[in-house]
Amino acid sequence: MRRSIILLPAVMLLFVLTTSIALAQDPDAGKTAWEQQVWQCAACHGPAGEGKFGRPLANSTLTEDEWIAQVRNPRRFMPRFSEAQVSDQQIRDMHAYITALPDPTGDFQRADPGIAATHPGQELMIQKNCVACHEDVVSTGQGRIIEGFVQRGVTPTADVVINQLRTPFENMPSYSEAQVSNDEAAQIADYLNTLVSGQTPPASLPQSGGSPNNAWPWAFLLLGGGLALAGFALRQRMVKN
Ligand code: HEC
Ligand code: HEC
Repeated sequence: MRRSIILLPAVMLLFVLTTSIALAQDPDAGKTAWEQQVWQCAACHGPAGEGKFGRPLANSTLTEDEWIAQVRNPRRFMPRFSEAQVSDQQIRDMHAYITALPDPTGDFQRADPGIAATHPGQELMIQKNCVACHEDVVSTGQGRIIEGFVQRGVTPTADVVINQLRTPFENMPSYSEAQVSNDEAAQIADYLNTLVSGQTPPASLPQSGGSPNNAWPWAFLLLGGGLALAGFALRQRMVKN
């Protein structure tokens, strides 16, 4: 009997200690977690929580528990993350790190590539804020999605774009018809099509006389790649010597 009377407070103390250790926030761990691209928190909320596709979080007045609730049951286009993917503790750490950063200047700003659209589909991608992730598509006509279509030899038809919007692959948010209508998706597809068909290596198709300007980015890329390789080789040699 006596023993358990002594043991009980000891066990309780241990319990309180371990839970308070578990609940303590570690902003350094939060920084690492925030920058771990696999969850893409930073990709949507900005590297310093200044806001990008998602709202700014550096000025967030929500509690840690409200952050956890958002990650588990997100509102709007934010992907859901389970406890196995991002733990409660990691969210608390990120909360500590991000809310300690300076307030973003002004409110959430839509990404604005500052270009005058020449195609209605391009204009739509700016309006609907697709540019938050696909900025290079509207500003340079290049980018991963264009390369993807070219490599797979798939034409960006309205169906393909609608399919991606309603049931996206990878970490793209889904869009309902109220957000981007089928009609609008068709215009976006038309725009993407102009970009993709300009790049398809036409083995059997008739070539549409590429303008010499288009050679420049590739020349720079090749030059850059060559320089990088040379630099790497040089470094390797220096390391060996
Ligand atoms: C694909 C983009 C995307 C990713 C990835 C993402 N978020 Fe979000 N997040 C959003 C959007 C969109 C909202 C809703 C903004 C709104 O309500 O206007 C949001 C809202 C939030 C909110 C609520 C803010 C508020 O004041 O209501 C928190 C907290 C949050 N996100 C944290 C995170 C964390 C932590 C991660 C990483 C585990 C993350 N988000 C990843 C897009 C994203
Ligand atoms: C939060 C980031 C994000 C936003 C916002 C976003 N996308 Fe995407 N999108 C992605 C990712 C990630 C992929 C898949 C990987 C890749 O190809 O880059 C993708 C791929 C695509 C593809 C290629 C599909 C395929 O079959 O190859 C299309 C088309 C597309 N997006 C259209 C849009 C349109 C239109 C909008 C705006 C209404 C939009 N995206 C908004 C992240 C985003």
